[in-house]
Amino acid sequence: MIVAVDGYSSTGKSTVAKRIARRLGLTYIDTGAMYRAVTLAALRQGAIDAEGQIDEERVRGILPQVEIAFRGEGKEGRAETYLNGENVEREIRGMEVADQVGGIAALGFVRAFLVEQQREMGRRGDVILDGRDIGTVVFPDADVKFFLTASPEVRAKRRYEELRAKGMKVSYEEVEANVRKRDYIDSHREASPLVQAADAVVVDNSTMTVDEEVEWMVRVIEERCGRSVEQAKN
Ligand code: DC
Repeated sequence: MIVAVDGYSSTGKSTVAKRIARRLGLTYIDTGAMYRAVTLAALRQGAIDAEGQIDEERVRGILPQVEIAFRGEGKEGRAETYLNGENVEREIRGMEVADQVGGIAALGFVRAFLVEQQREMGRRGDVILDGRDIGTVVFPDADVKFFLTASPEVRAKRRYEELRAKGMKVSYEEVEANVRKRDYIDSHREASPLVQAADAVVVDNSTMTVDEEVEWMVRVIEERCGRSVEQAKN
């Protein structure tokens, strides 16, 4: 069974996808973390300069040495992201990576490289993936597709609180500007822009609690694929 969770940044896709994974016995795959890991590798190799200019050929050159894996159970009960054997979970969530990831995710050859790996992971079993192009490009035949949305202010506030809770020094204005910038880049890029799949179930969670949202999404999945849900649970 394949469940796709797409939508704007900071709509809580990973929070709900993780919880649904645990409830239904699915493997959770955070595709945003994969774009973030490539961005971190590019920053470390000097393929992005101080002005945010990306040296595409350099990025292309480092891809063969980029090995991404999800391993172990992190603090929040999910696997953490490893880049060439190093745990980079914290670093990929920081503002430096957040500021540059939109540009890296817009590169067609980076997308092709990661989509291939995501399809391979999906072939291995029952999965729930979150991202921007899961229901449209990676798995157009996914069993259930969700498209998450919420107002930019609500999303920026959530993201700001999350970063502050992790001890990161950021201002609300900076976070809101980043959310808006990523919305723009994600939906205007040429390669796989963020669009809602025609057959996606839209979830606007601006005024929903996480519990309500998860309950509702689980019900939709069970209604649509009752038998395969039972198989995944066992
Ligand atoms: O979900 P996230 O915020 O961790 O995603 C980080 C960035 O990666 C975001 O700017 C959009 C991009 N992304 C993408 O283009 N396609 C995906 N499947 C997942 C993320």
